[in-house]
Amino acid sequence: MARTFFVGGNFKLNGTKQSIKEIVERLNQASLPKDCEVVLCPPAPYLDYAAGLVSKSQVSVGAQNAYQKAAGAFTGENSVDQIKDCGAKWVILGHSERRTIFGEDDKTVADKTKFALDQGLGVILCIGETLEEKKAGVTLKVVERQLDAVIAQVKDWTNVVVAYEPVWAIGTGLAATPEDAQEIHASIREYLAKKLGSDVAEKTRILYGGSANGSNASTFKDKKDVDGFLVGGASLKPEFVDIVNSRN
Ligand code: G3P
Repeated sequence: MARTFFVGGNFKLNGTKQSIKEIVERLNQASLPKDCEVVLCPPAPYLDYAAGLVSKSQVSVGAQNAYQKAAGAFTGENSVDQIKDCGAKWVILGHSERRTIFGEDDKTVADKTKFALDQGLGVILCIGETLEEKKAGVTLKVVERQLDAVIAQVKDWTNVVVAYEPVWAIGTGLAATPEDAQEIHASIREYLAKKLGSDVAEKTRILYGGSANGSNASTFKDKKDVDGFLVGGASLKPEFVDIVNSRN
C-alpha cells in the first residue's frame, strides 16, 4: 500500500507571531500535492495562533513536546489535552535535543509516546545516533534500542510516524546521503516488521531529518523507505514549500 508523504516543520525555539503568520500564509497560498500531509510545529505559545491561520485541510499543527501526565503540579510543562485544545493534532517526541539537552531517556520518551497516543495525539517519534555512535558502527543498535522502549509500551502504531534523525546531520548542513538514509530506513522498517509485524511496518511512515532543505529533498524522491522529512531550519524559510513539493 502507498504511504502518504509526510513533511513536518520543527521550528524549535524560533519564531514570532509575524514570522509564523508568514510561514502559514505561504503554505495556504502554495500549490501542494494532495497526497502530502504537512505538520507545522511552532513553539507552544503559538500553537493556537498557528492552528487558527491554517486554511488547507492537509496542513495541521503539532507541538514539540508534551508531558506524560494529564494535569497537576508540573510547572512549565504542557499537557496533551492543552495541546489538543489549541487545535494541534501531532506532537514531536524523543527529539535528540530533548534527549541530550533535557535528559529524556528512552523510557521517558516511551512513557510520553504512550500517553500522547492514548490521549488522541499523533506522535512523530524521533530516533537517531550521535556521531560517536555512527563512528563506532552501532547506529542500528541505537535506533533499535530507542524503538524497543516504545514497542514495549505501544502496540497500536496507527498514529505513529517515525523520524530518523542522525544527530550528526542536525543543524550541520551535512545531510545523510539518500542512499545511506534509505539503508537505515529499510533496516528500521525491517526491525518494525520483526517486532510488530509486516502490516504495521509497511504502514508506518519513516521520515528523514537532518539538514533536509529545498535543494536536497528531491534527491530522496526515489528512496522507497523515505516517506518524508522532519525539517528544522529550512521549515522557517520559503524553501519549505519546495520540500513539500519535492515528490513532484
Ligand atoms: O526535527 C528536525 C530537526 O532536528 C532537523 O534540523 O535544521 O538539520 O533541518 P535541521
